[in-house]
Amino acid sequence: AEMQDLSDEKVRAAKDMAFVFDIDGVLVHGDRLIPEGQRALEILNGDNELGIKIPHIFLTNGSGKPEAARIEQLSKILHQPISMEQFIQSHTPMRALSDYYNTVLVVGGEGYRCREVAEQYGFNDIVVPNDIIAWDPTVAPYRILTDEDRATSRPRDFSKINIEAIMVFSDSRDYATDIQIIMDLLQSEHGRFHTKAKDPISQRIPIYFSQGDLLCPTEHPLPRMSQGAFRIGLEAMYKALTGEDLERVVYGKPEPATYKYADEVIMNWMDIIHNDEKLPRNIYMVGDNPASDIVGGNNYGWNTCLVRTGVFQGGENDETNPANFGVFANVLDAVKTAIKKEI
Ligand code: G3P
Ligand code: MG
Repeated sequence: AEMQDLSDEKVRAAKDMAFVFDIDGVLVHGDRLIPEGQRALEILNGDNELGIKIPHIFLTNGSGKPEAARIEQLSKILHQPISMEQFIQSHTPMRALSDYYNTVLVVGGEGYRCREVAEQYGFNDIVVPNDIIAWDPTVAPYRILTDEDRATSRPRDFSKINIEAIMVFSDSRDYATDIQIIMDLLQSEHGRFHTKAKDPISQRIPIYFSQGDLLCPTEHPLPRMSQGAFRIGLEAMYKALTGEDLERVVYGKPEPATYKYADEVIMNWMDIIHNDEKLPRNIYMVGDNPASDIVGGNNYGWNTCLVRTGVFQGGENDETNPANFGVFANVLDAVKTAIKKEI
C-alpha cells in the first residue's frame, strides 16, 4: 500500500508539470537532429519509470510553413509523434487577426507558402509582394520576376484596392523589394498604391510582425540575422523618411501574449492526454536564446532552462537574461534534472 501511495503521488507530480520546448537550437538545427532531443521526447512520451505521458508543447519562433507541414517534417527528424494541438509557431496566434481584416499583405517566406498559411488562418483576401510587382514592375525597379513567380502571382489594379494591414509572417527573401512595398503602403492613403497620405499617421495601416528575434541559429557557424533585424532596419528607414516612429505589433517569444496563448494550448493538451483541462503548476521552458525563450519565460513566471546547443555560447549563465532553473549542456540534461526535481 505504501508503494502504491508513493507511485500515486509520483503520477500526480508528473501531471502537475509540463515542458515547453523551443525547437531551433534545442531539438534540431534546421533539418539536423540534436540526438538528445529525440531521447528527451521519448521519455516524455511515456518511456519513463511511471510509463505515463508527461505533458509538453512546442513553442517556436519559426515560421513560413503551414503548421501541418512543419509538424510532418519535425516528427520525421525527431522520430516522435507531434500533434497540431501541441504546436505553436510564431504566426499561429495571428490567426485571430483574420476576424479584423479582409485584404492583407503577407510578407516573407519561401515562394507562396505564407499565402497558404494565411489562407488556413481564415484570411479572405491575401496579397503577396509578387502580386504587386506583377501588376506594376516599377514598384521595385530591381526585382525581376521568374516564370514561376509570374505563374503564381495574382496581379490586380492595386491602385483601386485598400490593403487593410501588413503581416510580416516570415523572413524576407528580398529585403529591397519587401521594404519598398511596405514603405509605400505605410505612407499611402489607407493602403492604396500610387497614393501618398497627406497625414501619415491617421491614414496609416497597421503592421504586424510574427516574431522579433535578431538572430537565428542555422547550419552556419555563426547565427544569422532574423526577422527582428529586418524590422529594425524598416523602423530606421521609416523614421528617416517620415520623421515619425513606426507603431507596430510584434508576436512570438518573448512577448507576454504568446506565453498566455501557450497556457491555453497546455491546458487543452492536458485535456487531450489526461482528460483534465488544467494548467500544471510547474512549467519548464527549455530554450537556447536568452533574449527570447528565457527572458519571456522568466517574465511569465516559468522555470527556465538554457541549453548550450544553439544561440547561447556564453559562460556560466547569460548575464542579461539568466535562466532561473539553470544552464544545461543539452535538452536531455534539462529534462532529466527537472523530472528529478518534481517527480
Ligand atoms: O529565429 C527564427 C527561428 O528559427 C527560431 O526558432 O524554435 O528557436 O524559436 P526557435
Ligand atoms: Mg531556438
